[in-house]
Amino acid sequence: FLADKGNHRHFMAKEIHEQPEVVGRTLAHYVNFTAGRVEIPFDLPFDFKNLKRVSISACGTAYLAGLVSKYWFERLARIPVEIDVASEFRYREAPLEPGSLALFVSQSGETADTLASLRYASAEKQHILSVVNVATSTMARESDVVAATLAGVEIGVASTKAFTCQLTVLLCLAIAAGRARGTLSAADEKELVDALIGVPGLMSEAIKREHQVEMLARELSKAKDVLYLGRGTSYPLALEGALKLKEISYIHAEGYAAGELKHGPIALIDETMPVIVIAPHDALFEKTVSNMQEVAARGGRIILITDEKGALETDLDTMATIVMPSAHPIVAPIVHAVPVQLLAYHTAVFMGKDVDQPRNLAKSVTVE
Ligand code: G6P
Repeated sequence: FLADKGNHRHFMAKEIHEQPEVVGRTLAHYVNFTAGRVEIPFDLPFDFKNLKRVSISACGTAYLAGLVSKYWFERLARIPVEIDVASEFRYREAPLEPGSLALFVSQSGETADTLASLRYASAEKQHILSVVNVATSTMARESDVVAATLAGVEIGVASTKAFTCQLTVLLCLAIAAGRARGTLSAADEKELVDALIGVPGLMSEAIKREHQVEMLARELSKAKDVLYLGRGTSYPLALEGALKLKEISYIHAEGYAAGELKHGPIALIDETMPVIVIAPHDALFEKTVSNMQEVAARGGRIILITDEKGALETDLDTMATIVMPSAHPIVAPIVHAVPVQLLAYHTAVFMGKDVDQPRNLAKSVTVE
């Protein structure tokens, strides 16, 4: 294997741009396009119907993919999900009912804390399902079943394409679980599968906003602190936006559930701190808009990431609005991940940082 940046300045840029293709490839692995249904390409050693609970553990960006999937599993399959960062899960002696499902998410399949959590769950007689990108990894070997993300080799230390492929696989699993548990009708499934099939095209559209994002990144590079807000599945995306920005630009950033704004971070709002709000036009849009009003009333500078409908329905004075193509609310986080990644990338590039090899970070953390 020869690593090649193609026409891009950095691996991270190449990997962001590859997403429509690798998400499409991953989808093709889990979805029967003609039948309009999810078909998991391996046998599951358990039946979703009989599960009482799913426990998810992972680290970093993979953890945030897991957090998005909690919303999907709970909403689509009505199955309670517990999720923890692996470094907590492995030590907290969580009581696990034998025969439940433990799900692990990892790009490398080698992260020490996630692997230790997997071994703990295995000793507690859980079914072990791993969503991994490296098929030959230790986690893949030690799992009962492996749900591969077909992202290809990811070189940039800050994960991008692995994240959106993880989301794609996790959503397919949640849909399969919904079907097995009778909480999704064939028509519901068809609607979701149609939405999923549209995702690579929407991601390509999202990438076309790159020039606007690049201009905004210049503004962002002047900030000392940045706040990211979102509700529902946009909340883990807000966490991911903040994580990406701090990883590669070293600007201090925090992600918060928009509804928690009034319980703390609102005290920080002034005209020097950009507030990035991720708010596609979904059932929680109005609620997020009212949080934006609270920010605006205190002189906060808002960068709104929304979709066409959302942009039409807000008349707030934002510093900028990045308009994504409209997507089904369930798949929207996969599409909205793109501007979040591009914003961090261009901010770091503008600041002259080494985006592929950020200081103090490793691609795969195999020590505790
Ligand atoms: C490191 C990387 C992150 C990654 C995390 C988990 O912190 O810098 O990009 O999300 O590890 O890695 P994994 O290989 O388990 O997904």
